[in-house]
Amino acid sequence: MSSSTARLVVDLDVTGPKINRHLYGHFAEHLGRCIYGGFWVGEDSPIPNVGGIRSDVVDALRALRIPNLRWPGGCFADEYHWRDGIGPREQRPTMINTHWGDVEENNHFGTHEFMTLCELLGAEPYVNGNVGSGTVQEMSEWVEYLTRDGDSPMVRLRRANGRDRPWRVPFWGIGNEAWGCGGNMRPEAYADLARRYATFCRDHGDNRLYRIAAGAADDDLAWTRALMEAVSCLGCAPEPRGIFQAISFHYYSFAGDAIGKGSATEFGEDQYYATMAKAADIDRVIAGHVAVMDSYDPQRRIGLVCDEWGTWWAVEPGTHPGFLYQQNTLRDALVAGVHFDIFHKHAARLQMANIAQTVNVLQAMILTGDDGSMVLTPTYHVFEMNQGHQDAWQLPVHVIDGPSARSVGGAQLNTLSASASLKDGRALISVSNLDLDSDAVLTFDLRGRQVTGVRGRVLTADKPQAHNTSLAPDVVRPTALESAYAAGTLTVELPRHSFGTLELTLSGGGETVG
Ligand code: AHR
Repeated sequence: MSSSTARLVVDLDVTGPKINRHLYGHFAEHLGRCIYGGFWVGEDSPIPNVGGIRSDVVDALRALRIPNLRWPGGCFADEYHWRDGIGPREQRPTMINTHWGDVEENNHFGTHEFMTLCELLGAEPYVNGNVGSGTVQEMSEWVEYLTRDGDSPMVRLRRANGRDRPWRVPFWGIGNEAWGCGGNMRPEAYADLARRYATFCRDHGDNRLYRIAAGAADDDLAWTRALMEAVSCLGCAPEPRGIFQAISFHYYSFAGDAIGKGSATEFGEDQYYATMAKAADIDRVIAGHVAVMDSYDPQRRIGLVCDEWGTWWAVEPGTHPGFLYQQNTLRDALVAGVHFDIFHKHAARLQMANIAQTVNVLQAMILTGDDGSMVLTPTYHVFEMNQGHQDAWQLPVHVIDGPSARSVGGAQLNTLSASASLKDGRALISVSNLDLDSDAVLTFDLRGRQVTGVRGRVLTADKPQAHNTSLAPDVVRPTALESAYAAGTLTVELPRHSFGTLELTLSGGGETVG
């Protein structure tokens, strides 16, 4: 077996921007078995639950300290009418979920159930409103129902449904994918609608909404430019109008040239590297959006949000084609590791990201079975191992003398990816070796602070297709990673196709901001 070498330099006392914990956000849509069967089993289920919400799923996600949860879609958000999901469950109207399987939605999981789920998770709610088939009044009243105190028509309705106090809702989406399933709009038409809808999403009491305009697909910079023009103009105002506070974009990774093609578990070397190249290309995509935003808003007051990202494969054989249920291998975990390195790099502008989706859909953390089983995926472990980056100060990592880039299609793929951060006297380094054949001997030149302890962990398996099932739940799980430290130099051997973390305990010094 071959091995490569690399030297990585980290200045432990020169920090970059803060890594917003909301980069570790989640997404749960009324799609397939994400809500129903994933989070929600109903109060009468033999599966242990709290008020209908699965306890095992909540416990597993609490361990990740998930900072926010986006709901109810996705495409579903633009056909969801929130009043259908309040009041006694048996009296709620049903509807057809036309986007996802054309199946009947009974609305048993609605506003109150979602807010309870967020409370159980300790996560902040990110509610996505309906622009595509809703009205300004409907969205405005949902905000009032959720967040207003005192006395008003929506407050009385909420109280009649058993909730006295308002909830705190920090994040609000103004529609979803308005260029596609959210209404097939042109950018200028949506930009005007976003201004109008956002205007009537009021800040009630001391609740402050962070309004997120529905943004681009991938690198559609014209869409981002239209939204920036809706809140600012080139060089003419010291700060943007406070109509919406952020702009989103969506980015999915896959192996070929079409979303959803290719098996989650059966793939060859070419498909593996094509997936990694696609995942790494989000760096260019984010840089493009940032460049457009910088030209209108150099003070970075408007946030960039990637509220859907992850892998998208063909559904598992025998499952409903509209339910987007896929397995999750070590390859998916490495996609997550690469994305987080890139998200950390862009932490000055990128304020939130949401994996699509948390349970049973696309690149999930958790897969559940109808028999009550629950499996943690390899991707779950990356979120767990990377927890220490949440709200930490970014530390730039300079890779010197690393392995040469690999040519993949027309792209150059760096097979070594890394990022680091500093918080509470500890540094966390994440590093991925994407090479399928070579282990990597890594020498970290750690400058500026003394290291008094190192804990290394690695996530790998005998092949990138490895995955966890209810019969074999721990095929891919973190294990200890050996390291040697002396006089500012840390050496580790990172196996091929693996993701590793190094938690450093530091002595002396403060949290210097560079
Ligand atoms: O996450 C699945 C779907 O992907 C979402 O509903 C939609 O926004 C995107 O196209």
